[in-house]
Amino acid sequence: MKLDLAIIGGTGLYDFPGLEKVEKRVVETPYGLASDAVTLGELGGKRVAFLARHASGHSIPPHRINYRANVWALHSLGAPRALGINAVGGIRADLGPRVLAVPDQIIDYTHGRITSFCDAEGAKVEHVDFTEPYSASLRADVLAAAKRAGIAVVDGGCYGATQGPRLETCAEIARMRRDGCDLVGMTGMPEAALARELKMDYACVALVANWAAGCPLGDAAPEISLPEIFAHLQAATANIPPLLSALLA
Ligand code: HPA
Repeated sequence: MKLDLAIIGGTGLYDFPGLEKVEKRVVETPYGLASDAVTLGELGGKRVAFLARHASGHSIPPHRINYRANVWALHSLGAPRALGINAVGGIRADLGPRVLAVPDQIIDYTHGRITSFCDAEGAKVEHVDFTEPYSASLRADVLAAAKRAGIAVVDGGCYGATQGPRLETCAEIARMRRDGCDLVGMTGMPEAALARELKMDYACVALVANWAAGCPLGDAAPEISLPEIFAHLQAATANIPPLLSALLA
């Protein structure tokens, strides 16, 4: 089956409104089950797959997501490109709550996750190029779609992937800032690297839900409140259906 695009929805995005001819598919992979049934459907005449990364009831925390099964499932359904939608905290001064960004770099601080399909004994070891972790063409298409749809999106930024599920300390975010991170999230890796191993085009739309710990610099660091996070995330997520419609038009 030919698909045009896979969407991996993050916190706050558990389905893809507006899809037509919808069919749910439970996908078995050599790595086990994907987080949830994959929703297949059409939008603007294009075939789309949608997968909720944390499952529909948000029951799977970031460090327990079966990233390999998710990426494999979407690849096996025939998706040549995948767009990850990820809630993040904002580190850089212009990346405050409700901002949308399309990052162009990654630093991976996660640990204990299975980060590669080259994991089984006897499997062929491949060292994929990850100089540019996101697909330039999919990033450009997302940015162009946002422009057409009149949705403000920040072009670029370094996504720092942390282990979670707890949020970070001020010192951890200060270190990440020194490292060059602009955004912090818990699910961007190993998803991006696994997509690269399968030669899928992959990009990320990061939705800023909160200031990261101790940000913005210069203000008294507020504690991060969950109701606030969800309100910001809901507002930012409202941009995703029109963005995807423009992307698939
Ligand atoms: N840190 C890590 N992940 C996140 C954050 C954060 O502050 N906000 C949303 N996802």
